[in-house]
This record gives sequence, structure tokens and C-alpha cells, in this order.
Amino acid sequence: MKKREQWGSRLGLILAVAGNAVGLGNFLRFPVQAAQNGGGSFMIPYFIFFLLLGIPLMWIEWGIGRYGGKYNHGSTPGMFNLLWKNSAAKYLGALGLVISMSIMIYYTYIESWTLAFSFFSLNQTYFGLASHESMRGFLYSFQGKETSDFFTTLWPAYACMIITFCLNFWILYKGVSKGIERLAIIAMPLLFIFGSVLAIRVIFLGTPDSSIPENSVANGFSFIWNLNFDLIGEPKVWLAAAGQIFFTLSLGMGAIHVYASYLKPKDDIVSSGLSTATINEVAEVGLGGSIAIPAAAAFFGVTLTTQIASAGAFDLGFVSMPLIFEKIPLGFLFGTLWFLLLFLAGITSSVAMGQPFIAFLEDEFGYSRKKATLILAGIVLVAIQFVIFFFDKGFLDEMDYWAGTFGLVVFALVETILFMWVFGSKKAWDEMNEGGDFRIPQIFLFIMKYVTPVILLGIMLWWLVQDAIPILLLSNVESDKVPYIWGARALMIIITIIILFMIKRAWMKKAQANS
Ligand code: TRP
Repeated sequence: MKKREQWGSRLGLILAVAGNAVGLGNFLRFPVQAAQNGGGSFMIPYFIFFLLLGIPLMWIEWGIGRYGGKYNHGSTPGMFNLLWKNSAAKYLGALGLVISMSIMIYYTYIESWTLAFSFFSLNQTYFGLASHESMRGFLYSFQGKETSDFFTTLWPAYACMIITFCLNFWILYKGVSKGIERLAIIAMPLLFIFGSVLAIRVIFLGTPDSSIPENSVANGFSFIWNLNFDLIGEPKVWLAAAGQIFFTLSLGMGAIHVYASYLKPKDDIVSSGLSTATINEVAEVGLGGSIAIPAAAAFFGVTLTTQIASAGAFDLGFVSMPLIFEKIPLGFLFGTLWFLLLFLAGITSSVAMGQPFIAFLEDEFGYSRKKATLILAGIVLVAIQFVIFFFDKGFLDEMDYWAGTFGLVVFALVETILFMWVFGSKKAWDEMNEGGDFRIPQIFLFIMKYVTPVILLGIMLWWLVQDAIPILLLSNVESDKVPYIWGARALMIIITIIILFMIKRAWMKKAQANS
């Protein structure tokens, strides 16, 4: 049997998992979610779910992952099969591959925009566009969503996607320690430096237009940090907060498991898990919360900022921020920093979405890393074409909904039940505490066993009723998009079926080899 790869150092591991978690979600998605859901009233459920879902699931996933690695399984089919001695278990684990792969397909494309916009900032390409409308026109024509004079073809977007794609797969090909870990050791400190520089610059924006004193950085911060109970009764705020906790911590998709599988059986996971969650939150509420919203509040006011956030998931980062860079001294440099920051955050996450499938091919089929990387690259390259060319038809959003919002809650519920109930809470608890720098506080045993699954079940049911069924039935979709939405679903269903078959084959082969 081939020796499993291992992390080079403890610091490298922690940076790698932090890189996995810290992503576009921290800097683009978080501000938009906070702004759309009332700022301060979003932060209350957000922190509650961080404690009741984020931290417990982080430990659960590190625990399952390290346990799987002990038996040479880096992906969730093999891990679930260890937890539950039933032939169905491995098929449940397919979710961990489908979700991470689906997210990788569209996330890589978004990540490539940040690379493009780094060039556009350095080169001052968008300088001179003075209104939200024209800047939005710039973004939308780059994405091919609108035709205008800025970009007449998709080639710039396509070229940046190819560069991003090649970088990702080159790192994956280099492997866990020489690729992913090295990337994290360079990218994570840079990311924190860039983020801090930007956050400090934003604080000094003060009140850019002294004739409108309410448009100030201070009001942007108080929007986020002043406790506000106005919207607290609205389920949508709670769902958004739970969704953000999952997305930002990379929970519920097999991505934490695979990194943890490269640990040694007695390596600490208690304090490593907690540190990565903490680093992510520092990056999210500390840096992510101190850049886009306060800056937009200073230049456009809080009310307009929330409207911008509601208008589009990318408008705050790709429309408002560039407008601000045009207005400040050396703005082109700050703009370059902002988009490079996003790129670094993105790439340390996208490689994490690729690793589960690569580990699956290596561990369950015995493929070489090269072969495994090439197969995944082939799949992503084909699938990403749809995301690019049908972007204007909502293809990306549809994938994001099922994989990036709904799927991960289902997966998290499954894994919590398998680990805490089927495998058994006593064994699970000992497994998580094994080798720990300290013991997990006892209260978390109760939380993991009862509170987390009940919340997950509640969220899932609520989502199903309120959200998923209308979405499934295409209630709010313009008719010209309908075939493409079905296309996105078909793509994910095809990926699921292929993975299920592969799992079946892998286990058949193993059974033959053992008989
Ligand atoms: N946590 C990442 C972010 O904040 C996004 C993400 C979601 C992710 N799922 C993932 C990263 C799976 C790695 C693996 O942007």
C-alpha cells in the first residue's frame, strides 16, 4: 500500500485549513449577507450559529477526517463506510464529493474574475466610469451578461479562467504538502497583510463628503455592530446566518475531512480545529466586515449600501469598490490589493474543493496523483464551459443554490447523525479528543449530540418548504432561463450518478481483491 501523504508542519496544516475556510465567502459573501439582513440583526444569529453549528461541526469533521485517514480514506464515502457498517453508508458519502466538485466548478470562475479585476485596477481600465450603472455595465459585459462597448467578447473572462484553472490544477498536482501547504504558507500571511492595509485605509476614509455627514465609515461600522433586533423575528435572517456559517467555514462538503485525513492518528485536532475556525472569523468579521460595507457606507450611505447588496451578489465587491478606488489617492493600488486579496482567498479555497475527489481516486482506485488530477481537471474543464457561457441564464446561481446552500446542510445532518449516533457519541467523543492539546468542553458533547442535529433538521425542513420547493418548481424564474436551470440540475445529477457508480465499482474491486 502506498504511503499516505502528510502535512509538513503543524503551522502549515493550520494555514492550509484556514486557507480552505477563508475565501471569497469572507470578503464578498459575508458583507452582502450582513447588509441584506439588517447588519446588526444578522450578527446575532450569526454568532449563535457559529457556536452551535460552526464549532461543533468543525470538530466533528476533523474527527471523521482524521479517523478516515487512519484507514487510508481521504474522502467521505470511505469515511462513512467506517462509521456505519452498512452498504448504504458509502453512497451517502457521495454527497461529500458531489458538493465539493460542484462548488469548485463555479467558484473557479468567480475566482478568475478577481484576477481579471486585479489587472483592470492596476491598468486603471475602469477608471473614468463614474456611476453604479456604468460600472455595473463594465462588470456585466465582462461576464457576458450584457453587451456594451466595454467588452465585446468573452475572451478576457475566458483567458483569466484558463490561467486560474491551470494554477489550481498545478497546485493540486504538486500535492498536499508541496502544493496546498506551500501555497497556504505564502498566501495566508499575504492575505492578512493586504486585508489589514485595506481595512486601515477604509477606517481613514472618515466622512469623504463633509456636506453629507451621515455618509461615514463610522456609520458603516455601527450598522454592523450595533445590536439591532428589528429583523430578528424573521426566519430568513436566521437561515441566511446559518448558510453563511456553513459556507464560510467550508463545512458540510467533505473539504475539511480530506485535509484532516492527512494527519497522524494522534495529532491534535481540538486546538487545530478551534484555531482554524477562529482565524476564519477574524478574517470574516474582522477584515471582511471592515472593508466593503464601511467603505460603501462612507461613499454612498448605509441605505444605498443595503440596496446595492440586495441588487446583486457581486455588486458590492466588483461595482461599488472599484467606484471607490477611482476616488481615493493611489486608488489603482488599493484596487489591485483588494482584488489580489480576493484571488488569494479564492485559490486557497478552490484547491480544497478539488482535493476530495483527487483523494477519492487515489485512495479508492489506487490512481497516481497525476492521473487523479488530470481526471478532475477534465471534468471541471468541461463543466465550467456551461457556467461561463450560460452565466446570464442563471446557471451559476442554480448550482450555488443546490450545492452551496442546500446540499451542505443535508450533508452536515447526515454526518452528525452517523458520527454522534450511529458510530456512537462515546466513541466519537474519544476520537475527537484523542491527542488533543486540551479536552473539548463537556457541554459540546451535548451540543453535538442534540442541539446541532436538531437545528440542522429544522433548517433543512424550513428551507425545503420555504425555499427549495418554490425553487424546484421554478416559481420565480423567467421562462427563457428555464431550460438552462434544468441544464444546471442535469449536470449535477449526472455528476452524482457518475460518482455513485464509481463508488460502486471501487468497492466491488476491493471485494474481489479480498476474496
Ligand atoms: N469557505 C470558502 C469561502 O469562504 C468557500 C467554500 C465553500 C469552500 N465550500 C468550500 C472552500 C469547500 C473549500 C472547500 O469562500
